[in-house]
Amino acid sequence: MCGIVGYKGKSDACGILIDALKRLEYRGYDSAGIAVWNKGKIEVARQKGKVDELRKIVADSSFAGKTGIAHTRWATHGTPSERNAHPHKAGDVVVVHNGIIENYIELKDRLRKEGHKFLSDTDTEVIPHLIMSYIKKGRDFVEAVRLSLKELRGSYALGIIREADKMLIAARKESPLIVGVGNGEYYIASDAPAIINRTKRFIFLEDDDIAVFAEGTVKLIDLEGKAVKREIRQVQWSDAMAEKGGFKHFMLKEIFEQPRAISETLIGRVKEEKGQVDFEELKLPDLAKIKKIWMVACGTSYHACMIGKHLFESMLRIPVETDIASEFRYREPILKEDDMLVLVSQSGETADTIAAMKEGKKRGVYTLSVCNVLGSTLARDADGVIFTHAGPEIGVASTKAFTTQISVLFLFALHMGKTLGRISASDVSGYINEIKQVPHKIQSILDASGLIEEVARKYMAYRNFLYLGRGVNYPSVLEGALKLKEISYIHAEAYAAGEMKHGPIALIDENMPVVVVSPHDHTYKKTCGNVEEVISRRGRVLMLTDDPSHEMADRVETFFVLPRTIYALQPILSVVPLQLLAYHIANFLGTDVDQPRNLAKSVTVE
Ligand code: G6P
Repeated sequence: MCGIVGYKGKSDACGILIDALKRLEYRGYDSAGIAVWNKGKIEVARQKGKVDELRKIVADSSFAGKTGIAHTRWATHGTPSERNAHPHKAGDVVVVHNGIIENYIELKDRLRKEGHKFLSDTDTEVIPHLIMSYIKKGRDFVEAVRLSLKELRGSYALGIIREADKMLIAARKESPLIVGVGNGEYYIASDAPAIINRTKRFIFLEDDDIAVFAEGTVKLIDLEGKAVKREIRQVQWSDAMAEKGGFKHFMLKEIFEQPRAISETLIGRVKEEKGQVDFEELKLPDLAKIKKIWMVACGTSYHACMIGKHLFESMLRIPVETDIASEFRYREPILKEDDMLVLVSQSGETADTIAAMKEGKKRGVYTLSVCNVLGSTLARDADGVIFTHAGPEIGVASTKAFTTQISVLFLFALHMGKTLGRISASDVSGYINEIKQVPHKIQSILDASGLIEEVARKYMAYRNFLYLGRGVNYPSVLEGALKLKEISYIHAEAYAAGEMKHGPIALIDENMPVVVVSPHDHTYKKTCGNVEEVISRRGRVLMLTDDPSHEMADRVETFFVLPRTIYALQPILSVVPLQLLAYHIANFLGTDVDQPRNLAKSVTVE
């Protein structure tokens, strides 16, 4: 989740850009850079580390000018370093980029043959080179950018300047970018908080928009060069509201960010046409030797491990044992040298999960962390790390970290299955195709958030909830119940549906809402039986299913239809309405949703 800012106007660009980068620091980054246009020359500074360091470099040098772009980078392709930091320059074209260019290797090969020399390991560097290749063929700056964009596959938010032109060009596709409209001056930013102190008038760019900023004007065109019109919208956001993107709480914003977060998790890793998943950042041991996988974590991340167990066992036939990190080392787990220990953690700083990693290292097993926070202890100290790329998660109750963790475990299962010859290339392509559709399917659930809000209103007064699910949806109901407990303080218990008759059935009466996840899979009939038992005891059933003609549809009190997907991916979809239900109930009850009582985002004590 890199941050982009840009400015074209009447004031000193440097101060404005550094200030805007500072305001994006909360998103996390590993390097930063800036480029400023001054009388036909562009000064560039970039370095690994903090924006404050960049400020010093800029202050000590001859940086001046009224047009510029700047960037904070969170490494995806290539390690954090000055060489890989943005802006990237080719000829006299300078670019900052957020997103991932999927076809950069093909483009790089082609451009190399034309004589272009590359200096970094990034995908971004192909963009200024591509633009230069069109300029060399006689195209003007805007045309060169437009034709280059048409060749890019993947996602981008871009800020582009050129020494021979006074213009600033911005463009977006599947990566956020907004234009701030000032008084005869313009800003670009990947996130409103960067510039909310300067203007509250925004143009929200849409996919394939190109914005061309000249002296005091902006012109928008599409990829075919046709003019497009976008309204200037006046927002009433405070600084804090801007950070929440206009949502009332970070948690709600993060729930709504899931389609984009999952897309970012997938980008650069899935090579559908080759039937492959690629984890460039990963140093793996000989996978053929691995006989058993352990998945260990706390809280929500532990639920992701439970889903991981289903995925690896059903898709690869490799035994997986899951454990809660605070239990793991005290039971003296029988770890063998060729086992793999997977540690899942949003923060990468959870004390028990770190202790579990140390236990694994002590016993000589390969440790792999699945983390969201770059530079965190688990990311640094495990033998291998896969980042979830969910972007900063600020709400204490985890949401987008969870669905991206499942996505990563799914991709890793595909990678391992393909490497071991247990999943064919064509099956990998099929699976990749399924997960690529997940962001759109989540969006369709989010579009029905209003419906779920009404359901929440109906049930908010109950003090106890039961959640039931089977198979891969058992962990999703555990997660749904955890969300409700965490933020609404309502007692919620989740059970594997088959266990209901071994105890919780005694609790069921007309005061017990029972949330049931019942897709039309091999568990369908059995769950129908459980629902029957709840209804006959006057329990109030809220059913989530992917089957619009579910045989219990007319008998349950509330019925919500989920989009269809393959069995392995069902939890990513079924958990989203459960997150929304918990959120809306808590919001109606007026609790502190983002910082619920007694809870911490990162538990750094054992
Ligand atoms: C805390 C948080 C949870 C999180 C758990 C594990 O309890 O409140 O949201 O799931 O820690 O955190 P981790 O950062 O290791 O995923």
